[in-house]
Amino acid sequence: MLLAAAFSAVFTYLQFAEADAQTLSCSFYESSCPTVAAVVENVVRQAVQAEARMAASLLRLHFHDCFVHGCDGSVLLDATSTVTGEKTASPNNNSLRGFDVVDNIKTAVEAVCPGTVSCADILALAANAAVTLAGGPSWTVLLGRRDATSPATVSEVNSAIPSPNSNMTFIISQFAAVGLNVQDTVVLSGAHTIGQARCISFSSRLYNFSGTGSPDPSINPVYLRTLQSACPQGGDINALRQLDITTPTALDNAYYTNLQDNEGLLLSDQELTSDSNTAPLAAAYAGNQRAFFHAFGRSMVKMGNISPLTGTQGEIRLNCRVVNPS
Ligand code: HEM
Ligand SMILES: *[C@@H]1O[C@H](CO)[C@@H](O)[C@H](O)[C@H]1NC(C)=O
Ligand SMILES: *[C@@H]1O[C@H](CO)[C@@H](O)[C@H](O)[C@H]1NC(C)=O
Ligand SMILES: *[C@@H]1O[C@H](CO)[C@@H](O)[C@H](O)[C@H]1NC(C)=O
Repeated sequence: MLLAAAFSAVFTYLQFAEADAQTLSCSFYESSCPTVAAVVENVVRQAVQAEARMAASLLRLHFHDCFVHGCDGSVLLDATSTVTGEKTASPNNNSLRGFDVVDNIKTAVEAVCPGTVSCADILALAANAAVTLAGGPSWTVLLGRRDATSPATVSEVNSAIPSPNSNMTFIISQFAAVGLNVQDTVVLSGAHTIGQARCISFSSRLYNFSGTGSPDPSINPVYLRTLQSACPQGGDINALRQLDITTPTALDNAYYTNLQDNEGLLLSDQELTSDSNTAPLAAAYAGNQRAFFHAFGRSMVKMGNISPLTGTQGEIRLNCRVVNPS
């Protein structure tokens, strides 16, 4: 009896949940903007041809959008005289980039389908195009997100976006908070197979790790010397290093083979091989790019599904940087 009551309560809840939140769909723009994916891909291709790193920057924008208040384009909003916005929060300030490319995509999309495609969906499509252009897998992008009418606060960004110096237990809990499991954590960390990081993001490992007076012992000694010369003590904290030392602009599984050689750039990267929850999967992807590619597409779809605004929620922003005038 009790069990039956519990089942029926859950069933009723699911019915209600479905009634007010629409699910994303791969055919959302089939009649309203059938060419949207091609239009986005075209602008992303030009941007990546001009600068290979832009593939990484666009992929990261979708991540930072989805982890904070869900995939709602809020990361794109500029500060206003009354609202700070997300761009100057510490994980984003002097780091997140590609906003000008998003503007170009939005302009191209508005030219063919005015007022139809959300900025949040543009980020999801751009991430897929970027990964594919970098040699990675393609997946079926689910669409139908709408845009937030306000950004998250700086403190919400700071608590939602993982820090490169956090331990893996904490990072796993931050992924779990948005419905992503340990496998998603390992797989999506593999995004660091492309792109760059500033010295400030890993310099705590190079000289006086956790107050020990010595570098992080988990760094390969040869790799350590190259990092120390790139990021001398008292040097430029914004100097850049490739996240994947072997194939910096190719989306492949070299990120995981690097980790096996103790050549992860961020502490959060290298910890994947020292935490017992993540080490077996990290080793598996080092030996199997196909498995990584397959899993990457699946985890990107899951990430893209984090708390979207749908139906009549939010709006279709006309300029990704500002909320529509009321
Ligand atoms: C697991 C937790 C994660 C941590 C701690 C983390 C941290 C970081 C840090 C510190 C940087 C360098 C920022 C800078 O120094 O300017 C970075 C770059 C990057 N991250 Fe992550 N990240 C994580 C997960 C992810 C995920 C899930 C994705 C995408 C699916 C992603 C994609 C990227 C990309 C592509 C870059 C390079 C961006 C560029 O070159 O413009 N990261 N990440
Ligand atoms: C963001 O970076 C700029 C340039 O370095 C700096 O002037 C500003 O204080 C930073 N903002 C925050 C909120 O940290
Ligand atoms: C991991 O980090 C969290 C948050 O900073 C901290 O509370 C916890 O004690 C850390 N765990 C270990 C094992 O260091
Ligand atoms: C390393 O950091 C610790 C704690 O912050 C500090 O007490 C110590 O003096 C530092 N050691 C060196 C060699 O800088």
